Amino acid sequence: MELRRISLSLESTRVLNDLSLSLTEWRIGLIGPNGSGKSSLLRLIKGLINADSGEIENRPARIGMVFQNPEHQLLFPTVMEELCFGIIEQGHRAESAEQSARDLLAKHKQEGLLNKAVHELSAGQKQLLCVLSVLADGADLILLDEPCASLDHAAKRAVMGIIRGLPQQVIMATHDFDLLNDFDRVIWLDSGKVREDGRPDQVIAEYLRSLSGPGLT
Ligand SMILES: Nc1ncnc2c1ncn2[C@@H]1O[C@H](COP(=O)(O)OP(=O)(O)OP(=O)(O)O)[C@@H](O)[C@H]1O
Ligand SMILES: [Mg+2]
Repeated sequence: MELRRISLSLESTRVLNDLSLSLTEWRIGLIGPNGSGKSSLLRLIKGLINADSGEIENRPARIGMVFQNPEHQLLFPTVMEELCFGIIEQGHRAESAEQSARDLLAKHKQEGLLNKAVHELSAGQKQLLCVLSVLADGADLILLDEPCASLDHAAKRAVMGIIRGLPQQVIMATHDFDLLNDFDRVIWLDSGKVREDGRPDQVIAEYLRSLSGPGLT
């Protein structure tokens, strides 16, 4: 996918500023301070908002997105209904959807979620369900907006285990740099522009250096 000279304003604030990116790597991390434009860029790629100018070429047909807040994503009262919706959307027959949902949970060792109502899930379990329901949707590209924020270690490991096993292209925004060690590329956004772009270790080291201020490193 190619982003060419994308600019975006939201309520007269310039959020993305003449951004050009060729997004071809398998797993791409997105970092940057609060308000730098990470979520806006993901929403734009997903097609939820339109740029003021610029173009996106070769955008995958089916894009799944895990939102920063799981409450904005989950639509149904039960785990089963949530997963079945995605599975039926994907074109599967309704009669076999429940079995597919069971298989999906078993594949990711999350059988414990099977008969739960969404309101009784913890924050971590809701986030896990968001990732699974995006997988159920059968997307070609998966966008993840801080999928591990507020998760405990076990839930984080479970979510990252799922993400690491995905064959699809992944673009993930996070403040948790440890999650990006084995990614192929990290893009550091600052005020809606690319500040650094390259190998995870290099980009993250530069970012951390910038936080420590002059004379401290
Ligand atoms: N719906 C909106 N209306 C107006 N301004 C918005 C809207 N959404 C985001 N913004 C502004 O766009 C800028 C980028 O926000 P965005 O949420 O993309 O940042 P972010 O990098 O995801 O930050 P965070 O790390 O806090 O999640 C901020 O200045 C924000 O105030
Ligand atoms: Mg954000």
